[in-house]
Amino acid sequence: MSVRRSVIVGCGSYLPQKVLTNHDLAKLVDTSDEWIVERTGIRTRHIAAEGEFTSHLATKAAQRALQAAGLKAGDVDLIVLGTTTPDETFPATATRVQEQLGMTRGVAFDVQAVCSGFIFSLAVADNFLRLGQAETALVIGAETFSRILDWSDRSTCVLFGDGAGAVVLRAEQATGTSQDRGVLTTKLHSDGRQHDLLYASGGVSSTKTAGVVRMDGPKVFKHAVEKLADVVHESLADAGLGASDVNWVVPHQANRRILAGVSKKLGIEDDKVIVTVDHHANTSAASVPLALTEAVQDGRIKPDDIVVLEAMGGGFSWGAAVVRM
Ligand code: ACO
Repeated sequence: MSVRRSVIVGCGSYLPQKVLTNHDLAKLVDTSDEWIVERTGIRTRHIAAEGEFTSHLATKAAQRALQAAGLKAGDVDLIVLGTTTPDETFPATATRVQEQLGMTRGVAFDVQAVCSGFIFSLAVADNFLRLGQAETALVIGAETFSRILDWSDRSTCVLFGDGAGAVVLRAEQATGTSQDRGVLTTKLHSDGRQHDLLYASGGVSSTKTAGVVRMDGPKVFKHAVEKLADVVHESLADAGLGASDVNWVVPHQANRRILAGVSKKLGIEDDKVIVTVDHHANTSAASVPLALTEAVQDGRIKPDDIVVLEAMGGGFSWGAAVVRM
């Protein structure tokens, strides 16, 4: 049976120049390098400069992804951007990226699923491509999370950073089996009952402000390990694959201990898990494409590899995608 699949033909990422170390943070709040490294695995994070917005990070990542794919902005007919930290309340930051790329056709919009934003955006773009509503898509995760942190709250401000990552998806004809290249399946979930465990303390409609991140870390941690392991299982089963078929897991980079907990539950060896949280911390929707790009560029992830992408964030929202590269 001939089907359409969304094939990843290029990826790229961008981190702002300014680096903030754990030692720098220890001068701001009552914390230490030892505590942060032991509890999270994070050593440094990047912080966007004044006047550097989410769209600027997203555009740089998108340009690098297009270059890796050997394509131009004019080849793209869909931009889906996962972000929680838009440049403005409206219009969609994706349209700012569209303009900055010099793209004058197609459609661009944002998806809001916090740390799961890239997985949700990938699922949306994949559905557009498989339905024939677009041929070439830029899927981007980009955040300036530093702008919604309470820099006096040590339980959250040490965990996050800014950055962007992007992939180019192209529709290709395929056979409809797990031997195909491209996105083999996506599985998404949300549960609004868990709002109070992770949210921003403001919003346009409620307080007319952006608010700051509020989180019950230990409870989020417990939910994250369970839900991520479950959704990876679910997506592999849907793709007709098992844990032993997985070459690489590219998880949302929140906390090294969450990554270890998930791989243990899945019975997947730690050395198959891409870990980049140490040098960019939790960049929310940007973290999965940042980690993916790093592992593709350094040659760990190779064509034909089975890669599982997974993420969880506020809402709660969570999801996974199984991709043959
Ligand atoms: N420096 C030093 N001490 C700290 C810090 C800090 N930065 N932050 C908290 N502490 C203290 C606490 O006050 C507490 O002190 P107490 O024992 O005197 O009360 C102690 O450290 C232990 O705090 P816990 O919160 O129990 O520490 P835990 O081991 O759970 O680690 C952490 C906290 C890192 C936040 C962890 O719970 C976590 O990573 N949770 C997941 C959160 C997350 O990643 N969220 C991102 C969005 S969702 C997602 O991406 C999956």
